[in-house]
Amino acid sequence: MRSTPQCLVAALAEAIRSIVSAASPSHAAVTPCHDARFGDYQSNVAMALGKKLGKPPREVAQQIISGLKVDDVCSKVDIAGAGFINFHLRTEFVARQLVEMAADSRNGIAPAAQPRRIILDFSSPNTAKSMHVGHIRSTFLGDALARIARAVGHAVITDNHLGDWGTNFGMLIYGYKHRLDRAALARSPIAEFERLYREINAASQSDKSILDAARKELALLHAGDAENLKIWKEITDFSLLEFNKTYQHLGVTFDHTLGESFYNPMLQGVVDELKKLGVAELSEGATCVFFRDDPALKDAAPMIIQKSDGAFLYATTDLATVRYRVNEWKSDEILYVTDARQQLHFKQLFAAATKWMGKEKPELKHIVFGSILGPDKKPIKSRSGDPIKLTELLDEAEARARKIIGEKNPELTKEEQSHAARVIGIGALKYADLCQNRDLDYVFDWNKLLALQGNTAPYLIYAYVRVRSIFRKADSNNISSNRFQLQAPEELSLAKHLIQFSDAVHPILEDYRPHLLTSYLYELAVRFSRFFEACPVLKAEEPIRAERLALCDITARTLKTGLNLLGIETLEKM
Ligand code: ARG
Repeated sequence: MRSTPQCLVAALAEAIRSIVSAASPSHAAVTPCHDARFGDYQSNVAMALGKKLGKPPREVAQQIISGLKVDDVCSKVDIAGAGFINFHLRTEFVARQLVEMAADSRNGIAPAAQPRRIILDFSSPNTAKSMHVGHIRSTFLGDALARIARAVGHAVITDNHLGDWGTNFGMLIYGYKHRLDRAALARSPIAEFERLYREINAASQSDKSILDAARKELALLHAGDAENLKIWKEITDFSLLEFNKTYQHLGVTFDHTLGESFYNPMLQGVVDELKKLGVAELSEGATCVFFRDDPALKDAAPMIIQKSDGAFLYATTDLATVRYRVNEWKSDEILYVTDARQQLHFKQLFAAATKWMGKEKPELKHIVFGSILGPDKKPIKSRSGDPIKLTELLDEAEARARKIIGEKNPELTKEEQSHAARVIGIGALKYADLCQNRDLDYVFDWNKLLALQGNTAPYLIYAYVRVRSIFRKADSNNISSNRFQLQAPEELSLAKHLIQFSDAVHPILEDYRPHLLTSYLYELAVRFSRFFEACPVLKAEEPIRAERLALCDITARTLKTGLNLLGIETLEKM
């Protein structure tokens, strides 16, 4: 279906062409009005054009309006302020759009004009450690972006770039060989690996022979020593088992889980090629990429891709990864979702890839996010001062949700309560994260994120439950979604918001900001609730009853589709 802004932009472009022949339609952006009193959509095209033509914008706006053919879309077009053109939609037009949306299997989401092949690199925890609160945002953001990009028709490949080849394996393998507690390993493998690492790391600080021995183990691993590889594999497998439990719990999946180790055999080749091409050079024994003519990077240390002892680095692996993704997956675009601390790394990586691949380089983007803060406004920590484990957070979210559900609806069976607790608890965590503008830090607050009122997952899921319950009470499912009259102002207001769903989804991918969707969904729930208070549904006379049931149905579908795009499930009862 053609969206309302598309209809208006096309009409504006035509009207403008009769004034200046060279104007392109992109001049004519149309955005929703912030204040409904001014109209439904607005364009500031007359401002830009006025400047270009040296005429007062209001005069240009008047000229545009007199050539504008939008009678079937708008009941009124007027000028406000310095020369804004305001469009007031015709009720019949809104009704027609709604009919199309109701019949559309994509719930009105227009397909992307130019589908891309997008690789999403997200979550990517390090093995031998449990996932902690720092991985939350990457996992939630990455998963939501993958769902949204797929929904608009891009080809998406998700890849969990595990940190499974770090220098910590020297200590871990040494610890495994000399200090392993088998019983503890059987009980809780990750905890035992964490303990081993801590113990050896501490010991190696006072005892140089342990440090040397750990280094030797690492070198052996990198040289392909069978025993060390076996230990490494065991540690990796245990870690994956643990991670996968968490992903399953969260409903997050990956197309690939190619950890850093996967690229190990390619690293020397990458370094040699970069040297041959003159992209990298030797400096004090190490192989480095310098960015001498890049104002943003020239003052930082160069990017090292091989140390003087032959060791490769995080950056080397990431360079090999870009190459692999281009060659094997033909990617147009690679998105990396990590926190702001890795900004320099990605700036250097992207600059090096540009030198290396030139035009062949895909679009590379770092999707940065801020920290989750505790009540003291510092990055959140557990009581012991360690990072909070992700699994603990998920368990607590469910436990708290279960309490709320038990109080709200004690009639639910035990199974229904557990299911609802999972959906609400996990949904609340995801929503609290995704509703923030991703650049910003936010304060984690259980009461706020689980509140049944306000911009929260429980509120939206509850709104969905409420709509669905109408259909359980309606003895006949007589829905008429082929004709809407939208006589009550609350019906029209709800309908106008519903037909903007596609316009809410598309801009998310311009700068990868899912919070635009949460704002849309919250506003939808608010408008639905106003409609529901003002307009009886089941008690209304036909044909109004069937029309209102159809409005309820599209609202439910849009809430569900929207929440699912954020990775959040819905409930039929709560
Ligand atoms: N393993 C890294 C970490 O936990 C994140 C990896 C991000 N992806 C990448 N291709 N570098 O910080």
